[in-house]
Amino acid sequence: MPGLQHSLTLNKNLDQRARERFTSSMRAWVLTDLAGQMQADYEQASTDAGESHCSGEAVHQFLKNRGLFKWYSSLRCATQELVWQSVLRAIESDPDSVEKIGTAAPPEQGGSLALDDTIALPDYIDTMDVHLMPGNYQGGHSDGAEAGVVYDNGLDVFSFGVMGENLDDIGHSMANFTRLKWPELNPKLIVDVGCTIGHNTVPWKQTFPEAEVHGLDAASPCLKYGHARAEAMGVPIAFKQALCDALPYSDSSVDVVFSSMFLHELPTPFIKAFFNEAYRVLKPGGVLINMELPPNDALGAYAAFYLDWDCFYNNEPFYKDFRDLSYSGLCSDAGFAEQDFFQATMPRFTYVSEAEFARASGADATFDADTGRLSDTITWYAFGAQKSGASR
Ligand SMILES: C[S@@+](CC[C@H](N)C(=O)[O-])C[C@H]1O[C@@H](n2cnc3c(N)ncnc32)[C@H](O)[C@@H]1O
Repeated sequence: MPGLQHSLTLNKNLDQRARERFTSSMRAWVLTDLAGQMQADYEQASTDAGESHCSGEAVHQFLKNRGLFKWYSSLRCATQELVWQSVLRAIESDPDSVEKIGTAAPPEQGGSLALDDTIALPDYIDTMDVHLMPGNYQGGHSDGAEAGVVYDNGLDVFSFGVMGENLDDIGHSMANFTRLKWPELNPKLIVDVGCTIGHNTVPWKQTFPEAEVHGLDAASPCLKYGHARAEAMGVPIAFKQALCDALPYSDSSVDVVFSSMFLHELPTPFIKAFFNEAYRVLKPGGVLINMELPPNDALGAYAAFYLDWDCFYNNEPFYKDFRDLSYSGLCSDAGFAEQDFFQATMPRFTYVSEAEFARASGADATFDADTGRLSDTITWYAFGAQKSGASR
């Protein structure tokens, strides 16, 4: 069953559960039914007006004053705020267990937590509540793990059951895609950059039990919680506080650099610096794989508008800039050979049979322009490159 199943789940009373369920259902309705009506309205209205639009911006301008667009937008904003409010209420009513999560020594499963209080957070992290999350990932610089609790429980409400048990389907999908696409890889060190609470880091260890798996992030409260969470699940992960533009590894020492839903939250110079770092630390034959939203140059105008909505209305200021970049250009500018670029879409690993996953994520799989719409039929998009060089 999708949703949080691990033992750090907060005790929630019936009212709190009802509030969360209402918020999830409302989001599911807005993102499927109402979104469908908005698209139908756009198609009819643009046909009636004799207009066709060649970019997401043009669609946005055309729709801005239409009732359905306003309705969709205000309900999405309202339900985004409800996500955090419903979770914060549960946290405020159970402060003891939140406190315990941050301070109690987790059971020893062999994982570790290395924080670095000399790291100065970049301004873009420190000055904004991304996707309206109160206090952002660093929880307003609190000492505890509360921001991690907020994120885990909030993402559970936000994603209305489409992200797998313990919100780990992206990690399972990307790890198994990697296992199937590069069967000779045999990774010894896998690094998840921007791991937040490690929900998509854990599946890499479950897929590659022989590998050492690290989860890196800038935000210490999320790492503290992620460490406790992974230990509670019995999965040893090494969590480290680090920035993506200064990966704490020597040259050619890492087999897989992974990121998930990470790049779209970075200003472009940080994205480029991260790609340079990924190229530097990867061994020849190692793989950079990023799960992300698909690029605008691969989408039609309406899909580009739809995915960029968050940039304008959900405190995601870098979303569109990132999706306007050439993803293959990012890889080749960092040093990867052009022919080693890959992009793929895949079904959710934990929702389909392994045979179906293998078929649909194979090398000849086609790109699905609808990828990225949060709905119960979502498929994941990934891109990256294998570092060429001497055989492994
Ligand atoms: C959207 S979350 C990533 C979500 C997660 N990887 C997943 O699979 O759902 C973005 C994360 O990136 C971290 N972050 C932002 N800028 C960073 C940077 N320059 N270096 C390292 N982590 C950063 C934030 O603290 C946050 O935890």
